Amino acid sequence: MAEQFVVELKHVTKKFPGVVAMRDMHIQIKPGEIHGLIGENGAGKSTLIKVLTGVYVPEEGEIYVEGRQQVFKNPVQAREAGIACVYQELNIVKMLSVVDNVFMGRRITNKFGLLDYAYMHEEARKALSALGHGTIDTRMECGKLGIGQQQMVEIAKAITQNAKLIIMDEPTSSLGEQEVKQLMDTVRLLKDRGIAILFVSHKLEELFELCDRVTVMRDGEHILTSDISQMTGDSLIEAMVGRTLENQYPKIPTSRGEMALKVENLTQIGAIRDVSFEAYAGEILAFAGLVGAGRTETMRAIFAAEKPDSGKVYVKGKEVSFKNPGEAIRSGLAFLTEDRKGQGLVLSESVKTNLILSNIKNYRKGPLLNHQEINKVSEDNVKTLRIKTPTIEEVVVLLSGGNQQKVVIGKWINSDADIYIFDEPTRGIDVGAKIEVYNVMNRLVSEGKCIIMVSSELPEVLGMADRVIVMREGRIMAEIPRESPHFNQNDIMKAAWGGEIA
Ligand SMILES: Nc1ncnc2c1ncn2[C@@H]1O[C@H](COP(=O)(O)OP(=O)(O)OP(=O)(O)O)[C@@H](O)[C@H]1O
Ligand SMILES: [Mg+2]
Repeated sequence: MAEQFVVELKHVTKKFPGVVAMRDMHIQIKPGEIHGLIGENGAGKSTLIKVLTGVYVPEEGEIYVEGRQQVFKNPVQAREAGIACVYQELNIVKMLSVVDNVFMGRRITNKFGLLDYAYMHEEARKALSALGHGTIDTRMECGKLGIGQQQMVEIAKAITQNAKLIIMDEPTSSLGEQEVKQLMDTVRLLKDRGIAILFVSHKLEELFELCDRVTVMRDGEHILTSDISQMTGDSLIEAMVGRTLENQYPKIPTSRGEMALKVENLTQIGAIRDVSFEAYAGEILAFAGLVGAGRTETMRAIFAAEKPDSGKVYVKGKEVSFKNPGEAIRSGLAFLTEDRKGQGLVLSESVKTNLILSNIKNYRKGPLLNHQEINKVSEDNVKTLRIKTPTIEEVVVLLSGGNQQKVVIGKWINSDADIYIFDEPTRGIDVGAKIEVYNVMNRLVSEGKCIIMVSSELPEVLGMADRVIVMREGRIMAEIPRESPHFNQNDIMKAAWGGEIA
């Protein structure tokens, strides 16, 4: 007998205006396996998930669950067939309790026709315990839980729905180190229960650590499926981008110029304490540390997105006291925020409008806008950053997650600033596009700009930074220049955890 798959897709094609998001795609998922799914931004991963969960109905192709053909016209049908999904932007309603979230959209009633809360609490508790999170109080308001725990609530929801396949779309992208470990443990527990997992991630290390098999997509098509043990990082990358990438961190040496930014004893009670440092033109200064170490808070305080309690900031030697981010921007700062959807983009506007937003005054021609110039600059950005979009007129909300992020990066590159603060610049971006972002950084520093890069990706810090500052619990623990023997993964991690480096 042929091997039975828990879920199988055959010959699936899904089109959007101007884009074929999936073409003759197939994938076979075995019961109880952890199956990785990777591909460049815009390759079609999220589209595949949406077809599997009944959000999109494909033009062509078949879906089988445990050998039986299914046609999902809506998400409820997919859920009833045993397919659940934990989306990157969690579907948790923060104001509701854990139990209400776990049973959202499902009415479980007792013999009097009333909601059976006793049963629901019990089931929610059982599900959370099975995930190794039995300590989460099912009565608690979800908004009070950390992101990692909210994710557990979503997974618990999938378990109580008796999901056979749980799909996770970039589940680790907003988690801290510890939470990532917990999630991985949970995924393994699910596997032990015979539940299959489809795990989408841009982080190769994660895939190698967790997955049994992996499928690579490119331009909406199936490239390969393989036991992950048969693959190497390089062979995966090659399958993904269709070419070999010679150097993942193309750093070019530059010479340090004048002091661009100086920060003295910046303090914000409860967040950061006595943060002092200098950043120079022509350098990439990285901020490393664990999630919650105060790196983003430091940047927000400098940028006046948050008001510090004390401390001084100098731009090119002159003390400044920004009242709001607008003033910071006018003084030559640019801040690519970590929360790009919330703070970086107008989702209902076109790629082009978003790209020129931060610098619109440069495109005035008398009372009008210079559309020719705007088009040229936007086309250039789309090309350099390899933004996958049918045209520059496409509404940003229709782009894939990673491509939306590239638009934010493009927007700030056009801003003509002197000091660029990049908070997790390559999060959610595929390997090929990361290199393009690094090339853009190279260009900026060689033009004498100053880049401050907050990054939790140590390989990126080691690959691109001229100097690294390590923070922990709101304070600076170490400052390590590229030339130092301590400029390595071990010593940076040690400092991030509060250890002494000799
Ligand atoms: N609703 C939509 N309307 C129009 N085009 C869409 C829509 N959804 C996706 N697309 C397009 O389909 C292609 C595949 O997108 P998808 O979101 O599946 O990519 P992805 O592999 O998940 O990428 P990422 O790694 O960036 O999340 C992209 O070119 C995207 O612009
Ligand atoms: Mg996606």
